[in-house]
Amino acid sequence: MKKILIITGPAGDAQGWGDITATQSIKKAIDDSGKTAEIAFVNNMDEFYLCLEKNTFDIVWSALYHISGKSETIGMGDGAQKWLADIFDDRGIPYIGPDAKTMKDLIHKTSTHRILKNKGISVPYHYQLGTSDALPDMAYPAFVKPSYESRSVGINDDSVVNSPEELKKRIVYIESNFEQPALVEEYLPGDEYTVLMLGNGVHQAFLPGKVVVDPSMFGKYPILRSDLRGVGVTKIQVVSQRKEELIDLCRQAMEALNCLDHVRADMRLDADGKPKIIEVNGIPGLKPIKSWSPQIFSLYNPCSDGPMEEYRKLIDHIVTSALARYNIE
Ligand SMILES: Nc1ncnc2c1ncn2[C@@H]1O[C@H](COP(=O)(O)OP(=O)(O)OP(=O)(O)O)[C@@H](O)[C@H]1O
Ligand SMILES: [Mg+2]
Repeated sequence: MKKILIITGPAGDAQGWGDITATQSIKKAIDDSGKTAEIAFVNNMDEFYLCLEKNTFDIVWSALYHISGKSETIGMGDGAQKWLADIFDDRGIPYIGPDAKTMKDLIHKTSTHRILKNKGISVPYHYQLGTSDALPDMAYPAFVKPSYESRSVGINDDSVVNSPEELKKRIVYIESNFEQPALVEEYLPGDEYTVLMLGNGVHQAFLPGKVVVDPSMFGKYPILRSDLRGVGVTKIQVVSQRKEELIDLCRQAMEALNCLDHVRADMRLDADGKPKIIEVNGIPGLKPIKSWSPQIFSLYNPCSDGPMEEYRKLIDHIVTSALARYNIE
């Protein structure tokens, strides 16, 4: 029986698919699909190396980009320490998800934008700015967010800035609260979408969803503030218009970034109604029913046995496709 070693730790919710409960749901889905899974909860690099040594497995699946004691934020690690995918690459260990280079490009949102822009793929204008940088001559309103975070950390109505003074203030806020530069980009006022890339080769599917929130929940701007995330107010709907355009944009981005197995691209429409990629998630959320990936999968693969059976199929799709990519059949 194929065995999957699932790795998580204190940063599993901030960096990865969710907390330990989500990780246990993934294990159950794998165990119920004719494979077996073991969870290793690692607090530091020593525990991580030990778990690779003491377990036998066919493939690894990690909720963590890098080992960190921080349970609320991601960041880029301490620079000296390797990321988990670096070590899997060094040791030739098969693993689910994009490789180390892609993982770093995805967490670093300015890198993602640069790579996509160089290939002619639609992204907002963008500048990575710290408090000591001169402000560029740019159009307002702009959107200001942390460079390397997730779950809308650091995002509220003050993220939309209308003048150089407001921009300056917001860069100070990002730097002092998150110890990282700000990513300043074109404010995209239109509808929000997210497109799930599932599997590779013959197993590949692109599933678009429209992200909707009851408009009365919005303040000054229709944006997903941090207080609207993880509380069940964002809903995913089937996309009725421009479906092919969104799939095409996602497919191009996934190819440009070398994404594998299970990756989600977030997009919004600009002032002219044109979709632009705002970020690409290398370890999308996998909380049953709550996270966007399971919600999208369920929309396209409804099953009379209910959402947990749909969830099991989603997890099995990801695992089966990754095993096939390594020819571990
Ligand atoms: N350029 C932009 N214009 C308008 N709104 C934006 C822009 N960038 C981000 N947002 C809003 O902020 C939210 C969070 O931004 P983004 O998706 O980049 O970060 P995230 O916190 O990493 O998200 P995730 O939890 O999906 O990883 C988006 O869902 C969107 O509502
Ligand atoms: Mg996002």
